[in-house]
Amino acid sequence: TDRLQDELLALALEAARRAGALLRDNRPADLGVAATKTSAIDVVTEMDLASEKLITGFLAEERPDDGFLGEEGASSEGSSGVRWVIDPIDGTVNYLYGLPAWAVSIAAEVDGEAVVGVVEVPSRGETFRAVRGGGAYLGDRRLAVRPAPPLEQALIGTGFGYLTERRAAQAEVLRTLLPRVRDIRRGGSAAIDLCDVACGRLDGYYERGLNPWDYAAGALIAREAGAQTGGRLGAPLSPDLAVAAGPPLFEPLQDLLEALGAWHD
Ligand code: IPD
Repeated sequence: TDRLQDELLALALEAARRAGALLRDNRPADLGVAATKTSAIDVVTEMDLASEKLITGFLAEERPDDGFLGEEGASSEGSSGVRWVIDPIDGTVNYLYGLPAWAVSIAAEVDGEAVVGVVEVPSRGETFRAVRGGGAYLGDRRLAVRPAPPLEQALIGTGFGYLTERRAAQAEVLRTLLPRVRDIRRGGSAAIDLCDVACGRLDGYYERGLNPWDYAAGALIAREAGAQTGGRLGAPLSPDLAVAAGPPLFEPLQDLLEALGAWHD
């Protein structure tokens, strides 16, 4: 119901605000790597863990029957039909190095479908939000994608995974794509990249190998701003491939990525 969505939005905004402030105000000067995951460059810091703990603690207290899926291990089914999908720091490598492009990403799914998305970007003082069917907003401003240019004039964001083989394949795709577009940006946070499509700072975005917590909130925000999102031709956005762009650009971009085999390593 709309009331449920409103409640979930308010909670997501509050959790993201608290986590964003924690991360912004308490970044240790000597912040190091607490653990590695899929490879030596796939890192977790103590602040990723602290942020996820704050978010899940807050939400579980407010809504004890909800499920969770978090990048740093939160995983539970819940019994309410609501599941929170959380990236406590999207752009961990940027955060580790003191670069500004990192975000807190929180989505709420009802019966498996994202209905609320919040992406908090403390370094920009920006909070992106969307409710399914209710549009996407940055503060008071309703967001709309840029009028899409032809592919040759498009500014396209992307990102790379943490596995050597995957990166080699991603570099191959770029070798063909780069000469065919205005330029490429690798910002370092998929959640921010998707919000940048939503607010017209990028024309399009694609990446292979994302996890649901990287895109759940950002993809809803992009869609509610008028972007099309998807994966391989005809398939929904998935860890295989995530593509987002204004409708006139989406199809040529997705076609080219399909032809280049951008969904596999
Ligand atoms: C990463 C960022 C990055 C993308 C990687 C993600 P993390 O998320 O979104 O832009 O290229 O694929 O893993 O690890 O910083 O939460």
